[in-house]
Amino acid sequence: MTSEELLARRNQVVPKALVSTSTINAAKAQGAYFYDQEGKAYIDFSGGIGVLNAGHCPPAVSRAIAKQAGTLMHTFFNLLTHEPYVLLAEKLVEILPHGESTKVLFVNSGAEAVENAIKIARQATGRSAIICYTAGFHGRTNLGMALTSKVSYKIACGPFAPEVYRIPFPDFYHRGAGQRYDDFVAQELQDFEKYLSSIVAPESVAAVIIEPVQGEGGFYVTPKKYLQGLRAICDKYGMLLILDEVQSGFGRTGKWAAYEHYDVLPDISTWAKSMGSGIPIACVMGKGEVMDKALPGTLGGTYAGNPVACAGSLATIEYMQKININQKGEQVGKIVQRFFAGLKKECPAIGEVRGLGAMMAIELVKNQDPNQPDADLTKKLIAACADRGLFLIGAGLYGNVIRILSPLVITQKTLRTGLAILREELLKLTNLA
Ligand SMILES: Cc1ncc(COP(=O)(O)O)c(C=O)c1O
Repeated sequence: MTSEELLARRNQVVPKALVSTSTINAAKAQGAYFYDQEGKAYIDFSGGIGVLNAGHCPPAVSRAIAKQAGTLMHTFFNLLTHEPYVLLAEKLVEILPHGESTKVLFVNSGAEAVENAIKIARQATGRSAIICYTAGFHGRTNLGMALTSKVSYKIACGPFAPEVYRIPFPDFYHRGAGQRYDDFVAQELQDFEKYLSSIVAPESVAAVIIEPVQGEGGFYVTPKKYLQGLRAICDKYGMLLILDEVQSGFGRTGKWAAYEHYDVLPDISTWAKSMGSGIPIACVMGKGEVMDKALPGTLGGTYAGNPVACAGSLATIEYMQKININQKGEQVGKIVQRFFAGLKKECPAIGEVRGLGAMMAIELVKNQDPNQPDADLTKKLIAACADRGLFLIGAGLYGNVIRILSPLVITQKTLRTGLAILREELLKLTNLA
């Protein structure tokens, strides 16, 4: 089937709501590249939206999945215990301890992890309200949409889950004009405590959920002092802190967890994407005493913690350990950061370069004004790069952010080739070349 035929046939049988940002298809993939039906190669700077930190089809992972699929494909963990579940939980507790005792619940997607994190927080506290943030993204289930900020993800999908209270994310680039960074952060923390009088009473709040680095929202990095202050406020009022690491985890920021940059431990955390190299698996991790407050029968699901998914995830993490994925994340991050910092000097359309580790982005604006997003330029840049075999993705409430989520196993040569294409096309589109 040609690419054209595939697209035409897709349009006959797939709902329109399932938008695709491109007309490109993928027939096979390896490492940092994928290839379409005609064999055209693309450098993948999207990593399947943060799923492919260990690269496309790592051979050790493919082998582990095939072996498990031929041994035990399904049990339903609420009926029968199996080894891959326990081994993977042990591995996660080893690399991401949440304190003296840590427990892990497997599910199938990031949104499902978020749903369960909230369920557990409510049971553990006996409270119902949840505080979340502008520009936050937590998935497409009903509660996930309620927690998600961007309205175009949820048009006409309501009514949404109740008891969700959204407050402004501490976004210095857009909201900190004329202020010193530290003063802005201190003020944001003071405002948080005010919200506990004006928006929702702390006695009603089960948890605050925040992404240490916002993903879909546009790679805004939570200020370090803010997250530390938030931890202290949560402790003061008996609210739990849920850190959503679905996009930022597993080496992306140069550490297993982005929160490791903050010297902060969550009560509960959510994970998905790169933990399985593409096999559908996600998890909720949490302090043992919190996780055990969930009542028997309230957690589970037919496919949750499926043996094949667990085996694929365990092989992914073991491979990541073997190749030192965190060091690779750090290295990729340094190269991209330096490159973007240089490009910003050449190109005034770049309003801000930001990120943590290899979770780097540029925000494109008009007239160097943070409040004049340039979504049109962003779209054109993505299309021009695609023509040249570089697959990029956008982000941000206003669609004016280019985020880099390349596999972390990308070679320096491929990474620099991709960045050079991005630079050339951006300079051309802004009449600087
Ligand atoms: C931070 C965050 N949380 C939750 C989700 C939802 O994950 P999924 O698409 O696997 O449901 C995403 C997906 O992009 C995400 O980035």
